[in-house]
Amino acid sequence: MKRTIFAGIGHYVPEKVITNSDLEKWMDTTDEWIQERTGIKERRWVKEGQTVSGLAFEATKIALQRAQLAPQDIEFIIFASMESDVVFPGGGCFLQQKLEIPGVPSMDIRNQCSGFLYGLAVADQFIKTGMYKTILLVGSEIQSTGLDLTTRGRDMAVLFGDGAGAAVLTASNDADRGVIVTKLHADGRFTDKLWGEWPSITHHPRITAEMLETDRIYPKMEGRYVFKHAVTRFPEVIHEALNEAGYSIDQVDLVVPHQANLRITEAVAQRLGVGMDKVYSNIHKYGNTTAATIPICLSEAWEEGRIKQGNVVALASFGSGFTWASSLVKW
Ligand code: UT7
Repeated sequence: MKRTIFAGIGHYVPEKVITNSDLEKWMDTTDEWIQERTGIKERRWVKEGQTVSGLAFEATKIALQRAQLAPQDIEFIIFASMESDVVFPGGGCFLQQKLEIPGVPSMDIRNQCSGFLYGLAVADQFIKTGMYKTILLVGSEIQSTGLDLTTRGRDMAVLFGDGAGAAVLTASNDADRGVIVTKLHADGRFTDKLWGEWPSITHHPRITAEMLETDRIYPKMEGRYVFKHAVTRFPEVIHEALNEAGYSIDQVDLVVPHQANLRITEAVAQRLGVGMDKVYSNIHKYGNTTAATIPICLSEAWEEGRIKQGNVVALASFGSGFTWASSLVKW
């Protein structure tokens, strides 16, 4: 059976840096609170005119170049994002348009922070069965345009950033490389613990002028509740992948968790019994970029030489849904 390897990985974040001090100007918050509770120092936000497919396109160009492949080599696009450039169609079609590869199938995955790992699982099945040999998997997000930048929305507004990461996945005959295992989970009992409720198709019409006056048009989270689940689910789903693959945590060179909060990452490291030197973190620069987080981390870790060929990397995510997932990859 074919193995799925990361032939190229790239990322792109918008140029505009928003520091914690910038946020202090708009809402009642402090740099100290944000850093102490989350580890975030700054994040990137798009400027007017930038789109999720546009961020994805920039990341894709880098990933393709590193894979030494051209857009025409892509046989399938998987686009993980909570958003698109418009309400519909999904961002994958906009990205395909930019890549100028009409006819190539494109699928959107809307699984929030777990979107990239759900996409990786899908790509891996297509490659294993021989249906496709080269798949573009992208995570791209713009959260900044949907946040409540007043004190009312401060608990969410300080957390999120924009960005994109892209992976060119190819089929390999090398049985000692590539995606070893992917594990996926969801629990819909917790949909309202972290969600964007309005505008909603349950309303007739789905959007009204009155709605815009309420805070229900902004994303909402029961932070502590989500935190407690996250610190349990991350180690659990990593152990699940390790057990299935017959690996121990000592054989893992780098753990790359979704970046929601540095305190969550530290708790996960502690529960796994590994030092923070073995766990990748870039939340201080980007905040939480939802489905883009893991590919951005992979791209930066690769650039920094922290992921080299032959290294075993454990990926894990947890987020809205709840959805959570993991993957073990031999680079
Ligand atoms: O990516 C999806 C997964 N997401 C996560 O896993 C996130 C999980 N949750 C968290 O990371 C944390 O719960 C947060 C960072 C969101 C919040 O940290 P916390 O330590 O749980 O704080 P809290 O929500 O319990 O709030 C503590 C206090 C409250 O004030 P009172 O009630 O104690 O007076 C909040 O109103 O901090 C207040 N607060 C703020 N103060 C300054 C909330 N947001 C802010 C803010 N600046 N931005």
